[in-house]
Amino acid sequence: MRHWPLTQLTITTPDLILRVPDDTRLGELAQVAADGVVPRGAVFFPQPWASGTPAETARNVVQNHWWARGDWSEDNWRLLLAVFHEGKPIGQQNLSARDFRVTREARTGFWLGRRYQGRGLGTQMRAAALHLAFRHLGAERVTSSAFADNAASRRVSEKLGYTPNGIRRLSVEGRLVEAHDAVITATAWDHRVQQTTQVDGITECRHMFGIRAAGPPVDDILHV
Ligand SMILES: CC(C)(COP(=O)(O)OP(=O)(O)OC[C@H]1O[C@@H](n2cnc3c(N)ncnc32)[C@H](O)[C@@H]1OP(=O)(O)O)[C@@H](O)C(=O)NCCC(=O)NCCS
Repeated sequence: MRHWPLTQLTITTPDLILRVPDDTRLGELAQVAADGVVPRGAVFFPQPWASGTPAETARNVVQNHWWARGDWSEDNWRLLLAVFHEGKPIGQQNLSARDFRVTREARTGFWLGRRYQGRGLGTQMRAAALHLAFRHLGAERVTSSAFADNAASRRVSEKLGYTPNGIRRLSVEGRLVEAHDAVITATAWDHRVQQTTQVDGITECRHMFGIRAAGPPVDDILHV
């Protein structure tokens, strides 16, 4: 859609295509989530969007996409991309930031339908988000956070070269949870062997990420 340039953005990896879904595709994506994302009883997200009934989970996905679009601003954006494999949506890759034009730091989140997990696709979609952030948006750091018992998510960060960035204690659904934070810098990313990733349509929507102007000169960074 001409008036929402993010719909032009397409990221292509060896096995995946990442795009903002239209409502038909969003409905299909919501069904993937309704069919199961987390093992029964597991808590992998700070908000329990995938812990209710299938219908609640699906509705949460749809509402989350609409909310992220409605709430989008250059200083506080959340890019929610549907991940397609062999033409079908299989999961979601997020890239978000606040005050990105100053901080040059973004964060990611991701999920796959259970039947698509454990095949290397999560690593591929996170790498696609890192490629977009570092190569096309000028990010300097990208962060990720995974709960202590989320071995797959933590391993994806480790495989891609993140370094540990502290542990936070949270209360989630009334339970104590430890969130393991990790970070990767543009320099660390540049030194890695990269998967083939193609980004199309970024020129049309670059301004939406608040990066029309160049980033602050190094001397302008405030050390607190
Ligand atoms: C997290 C998620 C997106 C990762 O995607 P994925 O396709 O499963 O990940 P990959 O297959 O690319 O890589 C997973 C890695 O974790 C490892 N792993 C998975 N489960 C593991 C376990 N229980 N113990 C140790 N390692 C484990 C895999 O072996 C693999 O590492 P390897 O390539 O070195 O063998 C997916 O598992 C998922 O959707 N999980 C539920 C939702 C979720 O947790 N989202 C993230 C919230 S922070």
